[in-house]
Amino acid sequence: MVEYFIPSWDDIEDSIFNVSEKIIKDYNPDVIIAILTGGVIPAKLISDIIGIKNIKYIEIKFYKEVGKTQPKPTLKAIYVDNLENKNVLIVDDVSDTGETLSAVSRVIELFNPQNIKSATIYVKPWSRKYPDYYDKVVDKWIVFPWDKWEAVREHNEIPVKNKDRFLKSFIRK
Ligand code: PRP
Ligand code: MG
Repeated sequence: MVEYFIPSWDDIEDSIFNVSEKIIKDYNPDVIIAILTGGVIPAKLISDIIGIKNIKYIEIKFYKEVGKTQPKPTLKAIYVDNLENKNVLIVDDVSDTGETLSAVSRVIELFNPQNIKSATIYVKPWSRKYPDYYDKVVDKWIVFPWDKWEAVREHNEIPVKNKDRFLKSFIRK
């Protein structure tokens, strides 16, 4: 039986401020790299709060469904500019096993940046790659506002707002 942690948009906003304040005290990134897809909204929010407009993207997938991973993350695409001698901040929503952050860091290192740091909203206590900046350690499966419908599609017992509307409207494929 999977236990869920379901932050609201307000919880996310508070946590994003907490993470952003830690970054501002410690680091001056030139570029933010958002890990698609879950890292996109956190990266946009952090970018606006810390005032760094330059966001690039890396697409990598690890989870097929709730709690089930592939053997290793699959790199799908990289959308970055020249990162040489730049201070890079990698942003994702969560570090769970840490495989995704580790893989992305290894890829970004090949671009010879000056520094690589990472930020997530949450980290799992067992992660092998803690980000440099995060808000909370959470040991449950996290249902983010931006991926709750993906989770509910597989597990319709998850108690989220607007579930009835979702279940009536989504197209089953
Ligand atoms: C999730 C999450 C992180 C990663 C964390 O992404 O958004 O990127 O897993 O897990 P890890 O630390 O064990 O590697 P997912 O692969 O599900 O893709 P998504 O962001 O497109 O939903
Ligand atoms: Mg992800």
